[in-house]
Amino acid sequence: MTDQTIPAARPANPRFSSGPCAKIPGFTLDMLSDAPLGRSHRSALGKAKLAEAIDLTREILGVPADYRIGIVPASDTGAVEMAMWNLLGQRKVDMLAWESFGEGWVTDAVKQLRLDANVHRAPYGQIVDFARVDFDNDVVFTWNGTTSGVRVPSGALIPADRQGLTICDATSAVFAMDLPWERLDVVTFSWQKVMGGEGAHGVLILSPRAVERLESYSPAWPLPKIFRLTKGGKLIEGIFRGETINTPSMLCVEDYLVALKWAKSIGGLPALIARANANAGVVADFVASRDWIANLAEDPATASTTSVCLKFTDPRIRDGAAFAKAVAKRLEKEGVAFDIGAYRDAPPGLRIWCGSTVETSDVEALMPWIEWAFEQELAAQAEAA
Ligand SMILES: Cc1ncc(COP(=O)(O)O)c(C=O)c1O
Repeated sequence: MTDQTIPAARPANPRFSSGPCAKIPGFTLDMLSDAPLGRSHRSALGKAKLAEAIDLTREILGVPADYRIGIVPASDTGAVEMAMWNLLGQRKVDMLAWESFGEGWVTDAVKQLRLDANVHRAPYGQIVDFARVDFDNDVVFTWNGTTSGVRVPSGALIPADRQGLTICDATSAVFAMDLPWERLDVVTFSWQKVMGGEGAHGVLILSPRAVERLESYSPAWPLPKIFRLTKGGKLIEGIFRGETINTPSMLCVEDYLVALKWAKSIGGLPALIARANANAGVVADFVASRDWIANLAEDPATASTTSVCLKFTDPRIRDGAAFAKAVAKRLEKEGVAFDIGAYRDAPPGLRIWCGSTVETSDVEALMPWIEWAFEQELAAQAEAA
């Protein structure tokens, strides 16, 4: 019989949601007091804040100098769809999906844009075979599948000499994983993920090849104002200097700036990546020494270091979905882990956000609670039988 005593220590911060994710360590609303509230985002002050957000993003991520970085509406979804609606249709497209967000972009391409698409799919826990992807077509994919915890294992899978554009939804990867910029033509993300920022704004990063496509090709379908990146066949450069298409929240911008400055203060991208790796390592070690729980990612090389997805494998569990839900609910009720149930379309289990704003000591403190909740739920199941 496993020990069922309640663990002694609690995570100091029980926020393990995969988005919006935990704010930076020590965050308080007072940190946003420099936000230019009630001022125009087109004032010198507003524009300077937006430009600083772009500049710090470039500096911390190491985005090449000739790539454009823009702040766009509608969070990551807005940035991805903006890229798809502006760029696709000039050539065939390969759509890659191994969980629900990738699947959402497949729906966009096939059902909305009605493109001639080669769709590559892998079930939850696996990844598509990149050797079968035609990179002379445009390719749309998610770097880290947030709902399956499966990520692209290496940038080397993308040929440097491709003819098509690579459009990468990197929202749960960027700031926590190395990205091969020279192999990515479009990278998108939202502040609400690894930086613990707010939703609503997306970031759209374009390679020179993506800009060349924008300036040489006009899609057959109409583009609403909110999606328009060109005027008279030329890129609207202002968007990439902080002259946003419509009004951003300067409070959210300030919040992102605070997070970027924190990232810089701890050592930039290498430090952010190290934090996520350490957090995911704690979960991996825990899982490796238990025979009742496993990572949903079948190949450890593809296992996410941010949205770590786990499944219960104990044969005594009768109703997997109900069991996993009950474990997550019990942990939430104890106040030790919020929002760690698997995503609604994913296989039953837990999803523990291990991104860079999460403290390793909190992940360590959470592990005994998962074991405790598992045992409690098994006992409850036996009692109900
Ligand atoms: C991989 C991926 N793509 C897109 C989204 C949608 O992001 P947003 O709600 O910021 O538009 C998410 C959100 O979790 C995600 O994980």
